[in-house]
Amino acid sequence: MRIFMDTANIDDIRRGAALGVVDGVTTNPTLVAKEGVQYRDRIMEICEVVDGPISAECISMEYEPLVEEARRVASWHPNVVVKIPMSEVGLRAIKTVSAEGIRVNTTLVFSANQALLAAKAGAAFVSPFIGRLNDAGHDGMEVIREIVSVFDTFNLPTQVLSASIRNPRDVTEAALAGSHVATLPPAVLFAMVNHPLTDKGIEIFLNDAKKYSPV
Ligand code: E4P
Repeated sequence: MRIFMDTANIDDIRRGAALGVVDGVTTNPTLVAKEGVQYRDRIMEICEVVDGPISAECISMEYEPLVEEARRVASWHPNVVVKIPMSEVGLRAIKTVSAEGIRVNTTLVFSANQALLAAKAGAAFVSPFIGRLNDAGHDGMEVIREIVSVFDTFNLPTQVLSASIRNPRDVTEAALAGSHVATLPPAVLFAMVNHPLTDKGIEIFLNDAKKYSPV
């Protein structure tokens, strides 16, 4: 499973990229607004740090402006993947720009049916939001399993990108469900590195190592 970081914070992205396990980055308007920076500038900065798919979200709500925006955003950098929210207008735009070779990440996906439509329109990724589904009383991971199963059944090339992840267990479950990608808030990525038994084990080994001369 590929691991993306779900943030627009460049310091966190640099720290994550240094681990050597980050394959891409997803952003959204909320994440960028938190940073107080210009959207394009930050996307370009991220592209300098991580060599992989970098999702940048479109905000136009009408077909023509959305298609124009998607083309413009995609032209920023070869690694930019255009994020388009699920809707009728969104689907039409996904179909148009995907046919032109622009990679689309369909965002705000909450059901297998929405994912199927996005895949049929040619999206490179679909982003089901696990945490927001769970918050609304649904089973987010079940939706991931359904989408993976449908895509497998029909050999659809669209990748399942598990989003709205809230804790390390979500990552394990997304991997077990066969999700192609999970996008993680920095805190979840860094928490995955640690285990109390690892810390305890290191402490014991370091103490025991004092009992002999190092080579
Ligand atoms: C995905 O691309 C979204 O940016 C993100 O995962 C949303 O997560 P949230 O529900 O924690 O805001």
